[in-house]
Amino acid sequence: MQEDLLSLAMESGVLLDPELADYLAERRHPVDSLLAILEAVNPRLLVLTLDEVQALNPIPPTPQVTPASAPVTARVRKDRLGTRREDYESEIVVRQDITGHSTCTGEMRDFSRYFNHRYKVLSRLLRARRELVGAVSIDRALKMAREVRVIGIVQSAKRTRTGNYLLLIEDEEASCQVLVPAEGPGADGAPVPDEVLGIVGRPWKDDILLAEEIVRPDVPPSHAFAGADEALCAAFVSDLHVGSRLFLRDRWERFAKWLGTEEACRIKYLVVVGDVVDGIGVYPRQDEDLAVDDVYRQYEEVGAMISALPEELQVIILPGNHDAIRPAEPQPALPEGIQQAFPDGVLFVGNPSLLRLHGVDVLCYHGKSMDDLVTRIPAVTYDRPLTGMVEMLKRRHLAPSYGGKTPLAPERTDHLIIDALPSIFATGHVHGFGIGEYRGIRLLNASTWQGQTAFQRMHNISPKPGMVPIVDLKTGETFAQAF
Ligand SMILES: [Fe+2]
Ligand SMILES: [Fe+2]
Repeated sequence: MQEDLLSLAMESGVLLDPELADYLAERRHPVDSLLAILEAVNPRLLVLTLDEVQALNPIPPTPQVTPASAPVTARVRKDRLGTRREDYESEIVVRQDITGHSTCTGEMRDFSRYFNHRYKVLSRLLRARRELVGAVSIDRALKMAREVRVIGIVQSAKRTRTGNYLLLIEDEEASCQVLVPAEGPGADGAPVPDEVLGIVGRPWKDDILLAEEIVRPDVPPSHAFAGADEALCAAFVSDLHVGSRLFLRDRWERFAKWLGTEEACRIKYLVVVGDVVDGIGVYPRQDEDLAVDDVYRQYEEVGAMISALPEELQVIILPGNHDAIRPAEPQPALPEGIQQAFPDGVLFVGNPSLLRLHGVDVLCYHGKSMDDLVTRIPAVTYDRPLTGMVEMLKRRHLAPSYGGKTPLAPERTDHLIIDALPSIFATGHVHGFGIGEYRGIRLLNASTWQGQTAFQRMHNISPKPGMVPIVDLKTGETFAQAF
């Protein structure tokens, strides 16, 4: 019976002191008693002792777990734009992009190489954290009788009924279970499968660590905005979904016209963050929602829309999950046959891409992994896409979990790691909108040009179409224009 009680408590994220297990085993309904106690105790409690149970009189209410709010701010204001784009040639360096470098064959050894690379790079970033100085291997940590620090990749992460997290982590040699409290420093964003994190804690009975703190690679607090010399701007759009019946052509045309005005003449770069077209066969019965049911004609329409924009505006396009390219990330640039539908001078890059625009590093990622983050991290919602972006930055990874809704290709190296830190981080995909900042990195989610779909209506998702985030590449000032 004691063994059953110990494992039942463990499932709930609490370790039972053996004395308490003996005490419960002698009661008439040991399991029911344990369940009642688990309901009543503080969910932060990791080890439950007989003293604590005897002190439960009267039984206190179970405290609620409150999700941490992300430290982002959003402000929207118009700006008076002055200098002219035609005075400057575009200056672009593609710093990271899978296009032309894919090595993935999908074999088993690809996967182990891929995750080894992820562990190596992220554990290097973690070792630089003050909190993890003196980190040891899991094997060694379990044999120590004091506070330990380890670095591991999360094999599984389970939320227990008390709100604590039960993890299985592994490093290059061993694995162990880790119990993480629901609140406190260790609860700063839920652990998700396949992320690499540091644990500060103490061993419990040879094979379990009790976490006192989770340490993530994160972004240094002082990451400064490295601005351009010229007062040029970059504007970001996403999720045009051309070809859909719900494509908002009027709004797009207002935007296109505005780009030609004096007010917009400092905008040198227009970055399209994926889902350029609605595509075909992306979801069941999509043909009912299409105004154009030929994917090539959809791209021809976008090509014509881009041709109508000012000639000196540098357009950069990356694909999203609706585009005509492999869905597994990292996605290469749109294929040549499709690029021909666009005017000369458009730059096609992969998803994600790290670009240097006039000296400013811009990380562009369509944002498909947001579909996984919203289900796994209570603080992340579709309404507030920047919350998901902050969680990516904390983990220094654009799509931490493998095997969810985000298909990932096991390339030789993990291209979704955020190794070099950008000054601007742009996403789309959720059809929301947001501008803000996290530790000096400008964050933006680039809205959509598609009205509310039946799927979104069913799931209570309200898109925020026609919002264009704009970043002043010299000062880092971020604002938005509505159309
Ligand atoms: Fe989209
Ligand atoms: Fe998308």
